[in-house]
Amino acid sequence: MFFKRNNFAKVDGVIVPPAAMRWGGPELKNDAYYLKSAESEALRIRDNLGYDSTKHILDIGCGQGRLPIGILRTLGEAHYTGIDVHKPSIKWCKQYIEKAHPSFQFRHLNAFNERYSKSGLTIDDAFRFDIRADSVDIVYLYSVFTHMRQEEMEIYLHDFKRILRKNGKIFFSAFFEEDVEDYVINPDDFHFKMNGPLHVVRYNTKYLYSILEKHGYHRLDITEKNPRDNDGQQFIYLSR
Ligand SMILES: C[S@@+](CC[C@H](N)C(=O)[O-])C[C@H]1O[C@@H](n2cnc3c(N)ncnc32)[C@H](O)[C@@H]1O
Repeated sequence: MFFKRNNFAKVDGVIVPPAAMRWGGPELKNDAYYLKSAESEALRIRDNLGYDSTKHILDIGCGQGRLPIGILRTLGEAHYTGIDVHKPSIKWCKQYIEKAHPSFQFRHLNAFNERYSKSGLTIDDAFRFDIRADSVDIVYLYSVFTHMRQEEMEIYLHDFKRILRKNGKIFFSAFFEEDVEDYVINPDDFHFKMNGPLHVVRYNTKYLYSILEKHGYHRLDITEKNPRDNDGQQFIYLSR
């Protein structure tokens, strides 16, 4: 999907991507809802992951910058890197966020994803993020592992160990349930209808936890203070 360059909406004085460009469900097409969701993501990392502006946050699958828009709105400047395989989204973020706020840096990742990037390199065992070892405090992936194959998720989890600082933390969302098969792409019995490749990657809860343990991560026991609306994705917080 390609987007016009001079293309933005303004809500309450804040530049946001136009509705047609935003990923996610119909509720995110509403400007006020979109901005609110951006703000609550910023508060999520502050309240649940100890984020402050001294921390380096890596937003993988940043899309059109929902998290940084929320950080700027509620918490101010940051040490932020956003990475995405979808080139037009990165271009938008550079033009409308990075130019005015260089403490937010965006990079295109030339990698293949059946849903979002039809060209690019395969994410295989040789894959490494172009990020220095021991340089990131928080890795954040909202609605990204929900659209990646298990083997790719594991390659990412493996490299996070290299780039995360000693007390580093990870947040990600995923579809997982008890009493279902270990791992299914676009399950027939899901609570909404599939729309295109890699729409839903669903795990069995125990199976997903076993993958995280295999990679040496510890699940943080976080109770969401304000559970937020979503399409059935659940949230996982990990420490290194
Ligand atoms: C549903 S969108 C979520 C965007 C953003 N995180 C948010 O919550 O608004 C999924 C994003 O993940 C990106 N993506 C998919 N596969 C990826 C990969 N292997 N590495 C990095 N980003 C990826 C897509 O291009 C897309 O921008």
